[in-house]
Amino acid sequence: MTDPAAPLNEIVVATGNPHKVRELNAMLTSGQGRAGLRFRSLADLPGGPWTEPVEDGGTFEANAAIKARSYAQQTGMVCLADDSGLMVDALGGAPGVISSHYATDGKETGLSREERDAANNLRLIADIAHVAEPDRTARFVCVMVLALPSEGGESTILARTRGEFVGRIGMPGPSPQGGVPRGTHGFGYDPLFLVAPSHEQTSAELDPAVKNAVSHRAKAATAMIERIDALRASE
Ligand code: IMP
Repeated sequence: MTDPAAPLNEIVVATGNPHKVRELNAMLTSGQGRAGLRFRSLADLPGGPWTEPVEDGGTFEANAAIKARSYAQQTGMVCLADDSGLMVDALGGAPGVISSHYATDGKETGLSREERDAANNLRLIADIAHVAEPDRTARFVCVMVLALPSEGGESTILARTRGEFVGRIGMPGPSPQGGVPRGTHGFGYDPLFLVAPSHEQTSAELDPAVKNAVSHRAKAATAMIERIDALRASE
Protein backbone atom coordinates (compact mmCIF):
# COMPACT_ATOMS: atom_id res chain seq x y z
CA MET A 1 0.00 0.00 0.00
CA THR A 2 1.33 3.43 -0.85
CA ASP A 3 1.97 6.34 1.54
CA PRO A 4 -1.30 8.31 1.33
CA ALA A 5 0.61 11.57 1.75
CA ALA A 6 2.67 10.90 -1.37
CA PRO A 7 0.58 8.63 -3.61
CA LEU A 8 2.70 9.43 -6.65
CA ASN A 9 5.87 7.87 -5.27
CA GLU A 10 4.99 4.26 -6.01
CA ILE A 11 2.89 3.54 -9.05
CA VAL A 12 1.62 0.06 -9.79
CA VAL A 13 1.67 -0.95 -13.45
CA ALA A 14 -1.32 -3.04 -14.55
CA THR A 15 0.71 -5.80 -16.11
CA GLY A 16 2.14 -9.13 -15.11
CA ASN A 17 5.01 -8.52 -17.53
CA PRO A 18 8.13 -7.55 -15.52
CA HIS A 19 9.84 -6.46 -18.76
CA LYS A 20 7.34 -3.57 -19.23
CA VAL A 21 7.94 -2.40 -15.65
CA ARG A 22 11.74 -2.56 -15.99
CA GLU A 23 11.53 -0.51 -19.16
CA LEU A 24 9.41 2.18 -17.45
CA ASN A 25 11.80 2.34 -14.47
CA ALA A 26 14.75 2.67 -16.86
CA MET A 27 13.07 5.73 -18.41
CA LEU A 28 13.00 7.50 -15.02
CA THR A 29 16.76 7.79 -14.64
CA SER A 30 17.05 10.70 -17.07
CA GLY A 31 14.74 13.09 -15.21
CA GLN A 32 15.29 15.68 -12.48
CA GLY A 33 13.46 15.59 -9.16
CA ARG A 34 12.28 12.02 -9.40
CA ALA A 35 13.62 10.81 -6.05
CA GLY A 36 11.34 8.17 -4.57
CA LEU A 37 9.39 7.56 -7.76
CA ARG A 38 9.26 4.01 -8.99
CA PHE A 39 6.99 1.70 -10.91
CA ARG A 40 6.03 -1.67 -9.46
CA SER A 41 4.54 -4.72 -11.10
CA LEU A 42 1.22 -6.11 -9.92
CA ALA A 43 3.00 -9.44 -9.67
CA ASP A 44 5.35 -8.04 -6.99
CA LEU A 45 2.64 -6.61 -4.74
CA PRO A 46 1.42 -8.43 -1.68
CA GLY A 47 -2.35 -8.95 -1.58
CA GLY A 48 -3.01 -10.72 -4.89
CA PRO A 49 -4.33 -12.56 -6.74
CA TRP A 50 -6.01 -9.63 -8.47
CA THR A 51 -9.23 -9.86 -10.43
CA GLU A 52 -8.74 -9.12 -14.11
CA PRO A 53 -11.42 -6.67 -15.28
CA VAL A 54 -13.38 -7.27 -18.49
CA GLU A 55 -11.96 -5.01 -21.20
CA ASP A 56 -15.19 -4.26 -23.01
CA GLY A 57 -14.54 -0.61 -23.89
CA GLY A 58 -14.84 0.33 -27.54
CA THR A 59 -11.61 2.34 -27.61
CA PHE A 60 -8.02 2.04 -26.37
CA GLU A 61 -8.78 4.95 -24.01
CA ALA A 62 -11.78 3.17 -22.50
CA ASN A 63 -9.95 -0.14 -22.04
CA ALA A 64 -6.88 1.47 -20.49
CA ALA A 65 -9.16 3.38 -18.09
CA ILE A 66 -11.05 0.19 -17.14
CA LYS A 67 -7.75 -1.48 -16.20
CA ALA A 68 -6.25 1.55 -14.43
CA ARG A 69 -9.41 2.15 -12.37
CA SER A 70 -9.89 -1.50 -11.47
CA TYR A 71 -6.34 -2.12 -10.24
CA ALA A 72 -6.17 1.27 -8.48
CA GLN A 73 -9.26 0.30 -6.48
CA GLN A 74 -8.02 -3.25 -5.84
CA THR A 75 -4.50 -2.27 -4.73
CA GLY A 76 -5.18 1.12 -3.16
CA MET A 77 -2.28 2.51 -5.19
CA VAL A 78 -2.03 4.92 -8.09
CA CYS A 79 -2.15 2.66 -11.15
CA LEU A 80 -0.81 3.01 -14.68
CA ALA A 81 -2.44 0.89 -17.38
CA ASP A 82 -2.02 0.78 -21.13
CA ASP A 83 -3.90 -0.53 -24.10
CA SER A 84 -2.50 -0.84 -27.58
CA GLY A 85 -3.19 -2.16 -31.03
CA LEU A 86 -3.03 -1.64 -34.77
CA MET A 87 -5.36 0.61 -36.78
CA VAL A 88 -5.51 0.19 -40.55
CA ASP A 89 -7.09 3.13 -42.39
CA ALA A 90 -8.49 1.06 -45.28
CA LEU A 91 -10.29 -1.14 -42.73
CA GLY A 92 -11.93 1.77 -40.91
CA GLY A 93 -9.46 1.48 -38.00
CA ALA A 94 -9.62 -2.33 -37.59
CA PRO A 95 -8.25 -4.44 -35.95
CA GLY A 96 -8.27 -1.70 -33.25
CA VAL A 97 -9.25 -2.86 -29.78
CA ILE A 98 -9.49 -6.49 -30.92
CA SER A 99 -5.92 -6.50 -32.31
CA SER A 100 -4.79 -9.41 -30.16
CA HIS A 101 -7.79 -11.57 -31.17
CA TYR A 102 -8.51 -10.26 -34.67
CA ALA A 103 -8.53 -13.70 -36.35
CA THR A 104 -11.38 -14.78 -34.05
CA ASP A 105 -13.30 -11.47 -34.25
CA GLY A 106 -12.27 -10.55 -30.71
CA LYS A 107 -13.12 -13.89 -29.11
CA GLU A 108 -10.66 -15.33 -26.60
CA THR A 109 -9.15 -18.68 -27.54
CA GLY A 110 -6.84 -21.16 -25.90
CA LEU A 111 -4.15 -20.36 -28.46
CA SER A 112 -0.64 -19.27 -27.48
CA ARG A 113 0.48 -15.69 -28.23
CA GLU A 114 2.58 -16.95 -31.18
CA GLU A 115 -0.36 -18.91 -32.63
CA ARG A 116 -2.65 -15.90 -32.26
CA ASP A 117 -0.11 -13.57 -33.88
CA ALA A 118 0.25 -15.92 -36.87
CA ALA A 119 -3.53 -16.25 -37.32
CA ASN A 120 -4.06 -12.48 -36.92
CA ASN A 121 -1.42 -11.72 -39.54
CA LEU A 122 -2.99 -14.13 -42.06
CA ARG A 123 -6.39 -12.55 -41.45
CA LEU A 124 -5.02 -9.02 -41.92
CA ILE A 125 -3.25 -9.93 -45.17
CA ALA A 126 -6.50 -11.46 -46.48
CA ASP A 127 -8.65 -8.51 -45.39
CA ILE A 128 -6.55 -5.93 -47.23
CA ALA A 129 -5.67 -8.06 -50.25
CA HIS A 130 -7.74 -5.71 -52.44
CA VAL A 131 -6.01 -2.51 -51.25
CA ALA A 132 -3.19 -0.97 -53.32
CA GLU A 133 0.16 -0.25 -51.63
CA PRO A 134 -0.15 3.54 -51.12
CA ASP A 135 -3.54 3.09 -49.44
CA ARG A 136 -2.36 0.49 -46.93
CA THR A 137 -1.57 3.16 -44.33
CA ALA A 138 -1.71 2.07 -40.70
CA ARG A 139 -0.60 3.02 -37.21
CA PHE A 140 0.17 1.32 -33.96
CA VAL A 141 -1.51 3.17 -31.10
CA CYS A 142 -0.79 3.03 -27.37
CA VAL A 143 -2.88 4.79 -24.74
CA MET A 144 -1.75 5.06 -21.12
CA VAL A 145 -4.04 6.02 -18.24
CA LEU A 146 -3.10 6.89 -14.65
CA ALA A 147 -5.79 6.42 -11.98
CA LEU A 148 -5.92 7.49 -8.33
CA PRO A 149 -7.92 5.16 -6.03
CA SER A 150 -10.57 6.51 -3.74
CA GLU A 151 -11.94 5.00 -0.58
CA GLY A 152 -15.43 3.73 -1.25
CA GLY A 153 -15.88 5.89 -4.33
CA GLU A 154 -14.92 6.11 -7.96
CA SER A 155 -11.23 6.33 -8.81
CA THR A 156 -10.05 9.54 -10.47
CA ILE A 157 -8.26 9.64 -13.82
CA LEU A 158 -5.13 11.76 -13.22
CA ALA A 159 -3.62 11.62 -16.71
CA ARG A 160 -4.05 10.07 -20.14
CA THR A 161 -1.49 9.98 -22.95
CA ARG A 162 -1.44 8.55 -26.46
CA GLY A 163 1.43 7.58 -28.74
CA GLU A 164 1.33 6.60 -32.41
CA PHE A 165 3.81 4.77 -34.64
CA VAL A 166 2.99 5.34 -38.29
CA GLY A 167 3.56 3.13 -41.32
CA ARG A 168 1.76 0.89 -43.74
CA ILE A 169 0.99 -2.79 -44.22
CA GLY A 170 3.32 -4.34 -46.81
CA MET A 171 2.27 -6.42 -49.80
CA PRO A 172 2.66 -10.16 -49.25
CA GLY A 173 5.47 -11.76 -51.21
CA PRO A 174 9.07 -12.93 -51.20
CA SER A 175 11.22 -10.91 -48.76
CA PRO A 176 14.12 -10.23 -51.18
CA GLN A 177 11.63 -8.40 -53.41
CA GLY A 178 10.34 -6.33 -50.51
CA GLY A 179 7.33 -8.49 -49.67
CA VAL A 180 6.10 -9.26 -46.16
CA PRO A 181 6.24 -10.94 -43.65
CA ARG A 182 9.82 -9.93 -42.88
CA GLY A 183 12.02 -9.65 -39.79
CA THR A 184 12.60 -11.63 -36.64
CA HIS A 185 12.24 -9.08 -33.81
CA GLY A 186 9.17 -7.79 -32.04
CA PHE A 187 5.79 -9.53 -31.96
CA GLY A 188 2.25 -9.27 -33.26
CA TYR A 189 1.90 -7.41 -36.55
CA ASP A 190 5.55 -6.24 -36.64
CA PRO A 191 6.56 -8.50 -39.59
CA LEU A 192 3.84 -6.84 -41.75
CA PHE A 193 4.33 -3.21 -40.69
CA LEU A 194 6.55 -1.02 -42.93
CA VAL A 195 7.82 1.89 -40.87
CA ALA A 196 7.22 5.43 -42.21
CA PRO A 197 8.55 7.56 -43.75
CA SER A 198 10.82 5.28 -45.84
CA HIS A 199 8.62 2.14 -45.70
CA GLU A 200 11.77 0.10 -46.35
CA GLN A 201 11.96 -1.88 -43.12
CA THR A 202 9.29 -3.64 -41.14
CA SER A 203 9.15 -2.98 -37.40
CA ALA A 204 10.27 -6.61 -36.98
CA GLU A 205 13.48 -5.68 -38.82
CA LEU A 206 14.25 -2.71 -36.56
CA ASP A 207 16.79 -3.23 -33.82
CA PRO A 208 14.65 -3.63 -30.66
CA ALA A 209 16.43 -0.66 -29.02
CA VAL A 210 15.52 1.52 -32.02
CA LYS A 211 11.88 0.39 -31.98
CA ASN A 212 11.69 0.94 -28.21
CA ALA A 213 12.85 4.52 -28.69
CA VAL A 214 10.36 5.50 -31.39
CA SER A 215 7.34 3.24 -30.89
CA HIS A 216 3.78 4.15 -29.92
CA ARG A 217 4.50 2.73 -26.45
CA ALA A 218 7.67 4.82 -26.03
CA LYS A 219 5.83 8.00 -27.03
CA ALA A 220 2.90 7.33 -24.68
CA ALA A 221 5.30 6.44 -21.83
CA THR A 222 7.51 9.50 -22.32
CA ALA A 223 4.46 11.77 -22.30
CA MET A 224 3.07 9.96 -19.22
CA ILE A 225 6.30 10.37 -17.25
CA GLU A 226 6.23 14.10 -18.07
CA ARG A 227 2.66 14.25 -16.77
CA ILE A 228 3.68 12.40 -13.60
CA ASP A 229 6.57 14.85 -13.10
CA ALA A 230 4.11 17.75 -13.37
CA LEU A 231 1.62 16.12 -10.97
CA ARG A 232 4.41 15.44 -8.44
CA ALA A 233 5.65 19.01 -8.72
CA SER A 234 2.17 20.28 -7.80
CA GLU A 235 1.58 17.82 -4.89
P1 IMP B 1 -1.41 -5.37 -25.79
O1 IMP B 1 -2.00 -4.02 -25.48
O2 IMP B 1 0.04 -5.47 -25.40
O3 IMP B 1 -2.25 -6.51 -25.34
O4 IMP B 1 -1.37 -5.46 -27.39
C1 IMP B 1 -2.55 -5.66 -28.14
C2 IMP B 1 -2.24 -6.23 -29.50
O5 IMP B 1 -1.91 -5.18 -30.40
C3 IMP B 1 -1.07 -7.20 -29.56
O6 IMP B 1 -1.49 -8.52 -29.29
C4 IMP B 1 -0.61 -7.04 -30.99
O7 IMP B 1 -1.42 -7.82 -31.82
C5 IMP B 1 -0.89 -5.58 -31.28
N1 IMP B 1 0.30 -4.74 -31.00
C6 IMP B 1 0.41 -3.79 -30.05
N2 IMP B 1 1.63 -3.23 -30.07
C7 IMP B 1 2.30 -3.86 -31.05
C8 IMP B 1 3.64 -3.73 -31.54
O8 IMP B 1 4.47 -2.94 -31.07
N3 IMP B 1 3.96 -4.56 -32.55
C9 IMP B 1 3.10 -5.44 -33.10
N4 IMP B 1 1.86 -5.62 -32.67
C10 IMP B 1 1.45 -4.82 -31.65
